[in-house]
Amino acid sequence: MLIFNPPAKADTVALMDLVQAQCLSCHQMDRKRVGPPFREIAQRYAPGPGQETLAYLQRQIQQGSRGNWGAIPMPAQNRISADQAQAIAVWLLSLANTTSKESS
Ligand code: HEC
Repeated sequence: MLIFNPPAKADTVALMDLVQAQCLSCHQMDRKRVGPPFREIAQRYAPGPGQETLAYLQRQIQQGSRGNWGAIPMPAQNRISADQAQAIAVWLLSLANTTSKESS
């Protein structure tokens, strides 16, 4: 059960620009690139308890990650603020309920 609301539409547009600029060089929506596909990350974490999962992903997005998906680590994302990381985490978790056709 997700207990948070998706960001408002205008926010989503700005957020997608940010994701595009900062994340999509390593992540794709549905295919593995350097990092795991965003939809797969969503599906792994979405069933978890809401606020905890959100805080975890926010931290991972800002500080980077290693050892959860494979041999390649994710570097810390120094240009992402705490607010931005949280907004991305909410968006990311919302992907678990979509199929590849609904968002690209
Ligand atoms: C330089 C490449 C690179 C960039 C840029 C990058 N990532 Fe990653 N990301 C990775 C890799 C590699 C992993 C897998 C790390 C691991 O195995 O723990 C990963 C893992 C993740 C995870 C899963 C962490 C976990 O604990 O399971 C999330 C969430 C994530 N990235 C989000 C983002 C977001 C959001 C951005 C943009 C702000 C971003 N990444 C930018 C390479 C990248």
